[in-house]
Amino acid sequence: MIRCTFFMLSDPDEQLPREERQKAIDRADRRLSRRERESRLLVKRSEDYEVFDNVFDVPTLMIINDLRSDGVIQQVRGSLAAGKESKVYTATAPDGSLRILKIYLTVSAEFKKRMQYIAGDPRFSDIKRGSRSLIAAWARKEFKNMQAAYAAGVRVPAPIAVKKNVLVMEFVGDSEGNSAPPLVESEVTSSDYKQVIEQMTMLYQKARLVHADLSEYNIFKTDRGIMLFDFGSAVDIQHPNSKQFLVRDVMNVNRFFEKRGIEVLDTALAVEKIRGGNK
Ligand SMILES: Nc1ncnc2c1ncn2[C@@H]1O[C@H](COP(=O)(O)OP(=O)(O)OP(=O)(O)O)[C@@H](O)[C@H]1O
Ligand SMILES: [Mg+2]
Repeated sequence: MIRCTFFMLSDPDEQLPREERQKAIDRADRRLSRRERESRLLVKRSEDYEVFDNVFDVPTLMIINDLRSDGVIQQVRGSLAAGKESKVYTATAPDGSLRILKIYLTVSAEFKKRMQYIAGDPRFSDIKRGSRSLIAAWARKEFKNMQAAYAAGVRVPAPIAVKKNVLVMEFVGDSEGNSAPPLVESEVTSSDYKQVIEQMTMLYQKARLVHADLSEYNIFKTDRGIMLFDFGSAVDIQHPNSKQFLVRDVMNVNRFFEKRGIEVLDTALAVEKIRGGNK
């Protein structure tokens, strides 16, 4: 109404005969109500597709619902972290324990860059084009990597389920829902360094994987020792760049421990140790 009044006052046709003016007002009213109708429709549309907290779009909500019906989770509790390509939530399991939901988001530039990791991996040669299936492939890849590591006895959060872009795993942290601290937020010792190299060795020799995104941010320090996580980028040791990724992982780990005043192995030596007899 206010806008309509404004329209009337500012209208150069103000001097028109009364009848004409009334017609102009009616036209303006119609335009206004049409615009209101359209914007209401827009709101409705965006509600339908609303990305709650930028994560839960309708397809993701349906997956979460499926996970609930399957008894994998009971309820989503709260947001833990927002990473480069995913958001991490805690959820309760039907037995009351906590679980982690890692929800992969839309394709980011980073994600695209990392597609090279999938492209070179023989286990993922049948990926269809299109972002949704790519995101799902990425989540499945992290899940499979975790399964392989877990089965080989590497200390990683237990993988529980994967459905499209949602990965469910064991929660690592305290009973109040606080995650275990990553190395970067912990006091570290030479025993921690030794454990990291041991876990990397087991990952390489038993699970036949290279983490490929290892750093002080993707290693937990728990009461029961160190634990590797965030396996989205991990590659099979057959991957053409696996050696390069392994060297980078060792360099990241060494740089961190050295900075904290802990004696580290020479990079080439550590790489050799991790690879064992594998060429
Ligand atoms: N199993 C878990 N238990 C407890 N907390 C977890 C678990 N997995 C992930 N988190 C929390 O979520 C954060 C992000 O997880 P993760 O590194 O796997 O995601 P990301 O999207 O790859 O993040 P980034 O891109 O920043 O590396 C972790 O730093 C940790 O705080
Ligand atoms: Mg991470």
